[in-house]
Amino acid sequence: MDFNEKYGAYLNEFNAVLQDFCNNLDCRPDILKDSLKYSLEIGGKRIRPVLCLATADLLGVERKKVMNFALATELIHTYSLIHDDLPEMDDDDFRRGKPSNHKVFGTGNAVLAGDGLLNTAYSILLKECRKGTEFISAAEFISDCAGIYGMIAGQSADLLHENDKSFNEPTLNFIYENKTGKLLTAPVVVPAILGGGRCYSELKAFGRDLGALFQITDDILDIEGEFASLGKSIGKDCKEGKFTSVAVYGLDGAKLRADVLAERCRAVLEGIDGNRDFLVRLVDYVRNRKN
Ligand code: IPE
Ligand code: IPE
Ligand code: MG
Ligand code: MG
Ligand code: MG
Repeated sequence: MDFNEKYGAYLNEFNAVLQDFCNNLDCRPDILKDSLKYSLEIGGKRIRPVLCLATADLLGVERKKVMNFALATELIHTYSLIHDDLPEMDDDDFRRGKPSNHKVFGTGNAVLAGDGLLNTAYSILLKECRKGTEFISAAEFISDCAGIYGMIAGQSADLLHENDKSFNEPTLNFIYENKTGKLLTAPVVVPAILGGGRCYSELKAFGRDLGALFQITDDILDIEGEFASLGKSIGKDCKEGKFTSVAVYGLDGAKLRADVLAERCRAVLEGIDGNRDFLVRLVDYVRNRKN
């Protein structure tokens, strides 16, 4: 199976679980249910769940141990996007090729949709905790990655540094490692935790570097990408005065950083035993992605 087929197979496997989750949502009023389902069902690459399933395969961890963690991570990620697009944050009208959640349901309902996805993710994680101590550790890891020592901290710094024109690498790294890196680290570290800790440090380093690479290519796509493939507005970072890799290093400098990070990701993978082909290809995919 080549990389695209394998990615498609992981995607289908995860989307079936997500669809089942959406079909079983039973909350009222209808606008709450509809707004939750809207953002989940309009698509997305599902790279976090794909990473989780692929890392579980690499480590020989059973699928049923990781699947609900993959689901919780995608719910948290989708909530972060709904809130990220709000007028008071990035003010983006499009997401995943469709109008953003708040453009369809209004700002108040979009805030609640995000809150709803986050709470539901924790409810899924808490149920997993009943299965044993390593499940508690895995849930704790996701929760730290998503919270005030993770994604939220990165988003806060992202807002704080709007229109900051300084050349400040530590700040840029802080933003990347937290707003993007943490939610890409969780899906590769969770299988390590559930697999008895094997390759924990390596996968943590891999997630951090892949997260930085992912955000740099996101910044590059904000300039060079196309709406049709990307599914979100182009040129927004400059308009909002965002503190991005392109703003700090310039477009060519950002591409060079991306190459260095991709190389670092490959080097970490080399230290892990097992069939790492898919993850190596995934690094190339992230470096060269168009969506
Ligand atoms: C977008 O994430 C937000 C960033 C961290 C750059 P994705 O590019 O993974 O978005 P979807 O899930 O595919 O829509
Ligand atoms: C978002 O970064 C990271 C999140 C935690 C959602 P961006 O603001 O650059 O993501 P996009 O470009 O809107 O997808
Ligand atoms: Mg943002
Ligand atoms: Mg944004
Ligand atoms: Mg962006």
